[in-house]
Amino acid sequence: MASNGCILTISFLAFSFFVALASDQNPIQDFCVADNGTTVLLNGLTCKDPKQVVADDFSFGGLHIAANTSNALGCQVTPVTPSEMPGLNTLGISIVRIDYAPRGINPLHTHPRASEILIVLEGSLEVGFITSFPENRHIGKVLQKGDAFVFPVGLVHYQRNPGPTNAVAIAALSSQNPGVIIVANAVFGSTPNISSDILEKSFQINKQVIGYLQTKF
Ligand SMILES: *[C@@H]1O[C@H](CO)[C@@H](O)[C@H](O)[C@H]1NC(C)=O
Ligand SMILES: *[C@@H]1O[C@H](CO)[C@@H](O)[C@H](O)[C@H]1NC(C)=O
Ligand SMILES: *[C@@H]1O[C@H](CO)[C@@H](O)[C@H](O)[C@H]1NC(C)=O
Repeated sequence: MASNGCILTISFLAFSFFVALASDQNPIQDFCVADNGTTVLLNGLTCKDPKQVVADDFSFGGLHIAANTSNALGCQVTPVTPSEMPGLNTLGISIVRIDYAPRGINPLHTHPRASEILIVLEGSLEVGFITSFPENRHIGKVLQKGDAFVFPVGLVHYQRNPGPTNAVAIAALSSQNPGVIIVANAVFGSTPNISSDILEKSFQINKQVIGYLQTKF
């Protein structure tokens, strides 16, 4: 373990004694179709009576539908999680459709619980992620229709449509509940907000700029 200013850099060796679980835990029965009506809180969702389960619980129709990308980012995500497909509960996977307007972006974000594998269905996409070790290396490339790319669990990543036409991607994630932390919103738009003294030193910029960014998110 090395200390770099105030930031702890934990060496790779320190991790070699852990078994990393790359996705949600395995189910211990055929399935546990989510009972959408329940308010019981547990790690996952409670199961429907298996006798009441129907094929539609394992299905979602709608990924052919283009989402409305008329927003500041020019991007819209259509998620398919147990809310939309109850049969996903406990299976450790989920899927999304992502629509991008020309020059639309899916901004810098991270999924704390999932790796993400994305395939471009229409248009092209500039994609990338930032490594944590041994430095903050930016790994990115431009994808064409039919190309796939994987974003490793937890790493900050983005997609941008550089083209003059719409782009569409499908992405599968290794959790039924990947979580999403959009960097700008988390840092400048948290509730309650992060003190500007902390943001000023973290980003090495003055309070006015911090105040401006806080009003944007
Ligand atoms: C798309 O969203 C914008 C902004 O919310 C809205 O003004 C517009 O009517 C929507 N378009 C369609 C086709 O729903
Ligand atoms: C589950 O409940 C939510 C919230 O009531 C609803 O939006 C969603 O459509 C329901 N999902 C299914 C598959 O019934
Ligand atoms: C951030 O929070 C503090 C205290 O809660 C408040 O005084 C300040 O106006 C807030 N700043 C912004 C930009 O919302």
